[in-house]
Amino acid sequence: MHKQTHKQLIISSVIFMLALTGMISILSGCSEPETPATPEFKTSLKEDEIRNSAFKPDFPLHYETYLRNDESKIMTEYNGSVAYNKHDNVNPLPEGYKHAQPYLKNLWLGYPFSYEYRAARGHTYALKDIMNIDRINRYDEKGGLPATCMNCKSAKMNQFVKEKGDEFWAQDFNKLREQVDLDENTIGCANCHDPRDMKLRLYSVPLKDYLASKGKKFENLPRNEQRALMCGQCHVEYYFQDKGFGPAKKVVFPWANGMDPEEIYTYYATHGDTTTPGFEGNFVDWVHPVSQTPMLKAQHPEFENWSNGVHGAAGVSCADCHMSYVRLDGKKKISSHHWTSPLKDPDLKACRQCHTDKAPEFLKERVLFTQHKVWEQLMIAQDISVKAHEAIRMASEFTGEKPADYDQLMIEARQWCRKGQFFWDYVSAENSVGFHNPAKALNTLAQSQQYSQKAVDTAVRAAAYAIARDIDGDIKTIVPPILHHSRELQMGPEHMKSHPWFKYLPVTPKAPKIWEGNKRLIPAPAQAPPQTAG
Ligand code: HEC
Ligand code: HEC
Ligand code: HEC
Ligand code: HEC
Repeated sequence: MHKQTHKQLIISSVIFMLALTGMISILSGCSEPETPATPEFKTSLKEDEIRNSAFKPDFPLHYETYLRNDESKIMTEYNGSVAYNKHDNVNPLPEGYKHAQPYLKNLWLGYPFSYEYRAARGHTYALKDIMNIDRINRYDEKGGLPATCMNCKSAKMNQFVKEKGDEFWAQDFNKLREQVDLDENTIGCANCHDPRDMKLRLYSVPLKDYLASKGKKFENLPRNEQRALMCGQCHVEYYFQDKGFGPAKKVVFPWANGMDPEEIYTYYATHGDTTTPGFEGNFVDWVHPVSQTPMLKAQHPEFENWSNGVHGAAGVSCADCHMSYVRLDGKKKISSHHWTSPLKDPDLKACRQCHTDKAPEFLKERVLFTQHKVWEQLMIAQDISVKAHEAIRMASEFTGEKPADYDQLMIEARQWCRKGQFFWDYVSAENSVGFHNPAKALNTLAQSQQYSQKAVDTAVRAAAYAIARDIDGDIKTIVPPILHHSRELQMGPEHMKSHPWFKYLPVTPKAPKIWEGNKRLIPAPAQAPPQTAG
């Protein structure tokens, strides 16, 4: 009862703050965009239609804008649609790019992200890209990742979940390869619309679960909240649940305490099966082989970052900037279904629906101002995270006389390392380089740097200061960035001698490639004959 009133108080102060921001925006001359009411439709499509092309006859103009998601060449200063390797700041596009973080393979060593991690491009590529990414093993019958990965790539999730329910998630990803059509079933209309009337409709199980946990019903939410939640189905932080907490590998949004990094971090402290001393009950994505730290991997928290940023707090939705109204063939305005960087448009029309008094150059400069500042701190946070792993490694191999509380100090060092890297990743994996929430991005990076530095200091103390000299200095000279690593390379003993950190990884047995996209290169192994009873 007491809690309820407290909550209501918070809600009413949020409403008050929103009203206040609205007033400020009027004062500063920012006009509200003209928002035509969503028209009502009646189609001949069935409720369970999931093929993208089936929507073309009824909505040729929407479909035309949708196909523009195929554009994969135009870049902006920090983003755009070329799927370059996000750790490669050596080679030029399309393989690498100047704004890449060189230590990604080091920081994710031992986790599939270290094999391949590329910049995002359009929704029409979602299935093609997941079929070819090295994170899912194509050299083994088992992909090594659950079917859950499919959740944010395909409108076929509607069908999968209906047929299999919670048994869907824990299947091996490679079992699904042949079941999807890469164009027809990629992210599409049925991920966001009810085909019968094109009303906005959620397909996402984790988001429905979250709303239910808050006693909310999607159908009753205001239109603007619904529009943002469409993107919140996928552009969020999530994890694959441990078995002790419900259906294994089911995707869950870790939002019970809130959406800020500290709130998500504390959520993970009590939502896992881990038994490692010092990490009991933590959720853990993988253990970093060099520092033996139980780690978390953050994934693209756009929704979380946006939600309490300048625009999110003012009720400006993702769709306002990423789906602005366009007029095709002189016909009436429609919402563009080309989801991409608003900076690719030299006129910045999306922004200037509201910022009518600002020139495109001014607005672009403001975005870049934020991004430059955030990038600078992101690179520093990344470097200190690497140093944390290396310092812990040195301390764990230290053979001299240890302080009495050595074991406890090593646990603390690893806790700081886990936390520092998660805070770095919360900003790193977020795709706007800070624009969606400049203050929170910089604050999160400042915290990351402090936490990772505490990991270094604590490890130095655990090793009775004996490693202080070795860990002092520029990290680039202590631990070089890993530029090349993949499933195939890990099968090569020579490659595995090319970086000092590889010695903490096994050389994997040589194996041929089984999959190319969703096609088999090697026939399936013969099924074992059924066991006869008796
Ligand atoms: C639907 C309306 C709307 C759209 C579209 C919009 N903005 Fe804003 N913008 C606002 C509001 C409201 C604020 C809050 C401050 C204010 O009232 O000026 C704001 C604030 C800003 C600020 C000041 C931020 C700060 O940290 O103080 C910048 C910069 C900005 N917008 C840039 C952009 C850019 C770039 C785009 C397009 C990518 C964009 N806006 C699109 C409504 C909008
Ligand atoms: C990622 C979510 C998403 C996907 C995928 C999607 N839409 Fe939309 N669609 C929206 C949103 C958000 C709106 C805006 C609704 C509003 O403003 O009330 C919208 C609006 C519409 C409208 C209403 C008229 C308009 O232009 O605002 C139509 C028709 C439509 N979409 C058709 C399609 C078709 C056809 C596809 C597949 C080719 C598709 N949509 C895929 C999110 C999506
Ligand atoms: C079903 C899950 C899903 C939904 C819903 C979704 N996205 Fe995406 N989005 C993705 C994935 C996956 C990618 C990366 C695809 C790739 O690189 O192959 C992506 C990429 C993007 C990109 C990068 C495009 C580029 O050119 O680099 C933007 C921008 C984007 N989404 C915005 C949105 C917005 C805005 C919404 C809501 C209207 C939305 N998305 C809804 C999954 C989703
Ligand atoms: C006020 C306008 C605005 C709002 C609101 C907004 N974004 Fe963005 N978004 C941007 C800008 C500007 C960038 C940076 C683009 C760049 O660097 O080229 C960006 C970048 C992105 C990217 C990466 C694009 C790329 O080229 O790879 C994704 C994905 C994205 N936003 C998704 C979202 C989602 C999801 C929401 C809502 C939860 C949202 N955005 C809300 C303006 C906005």
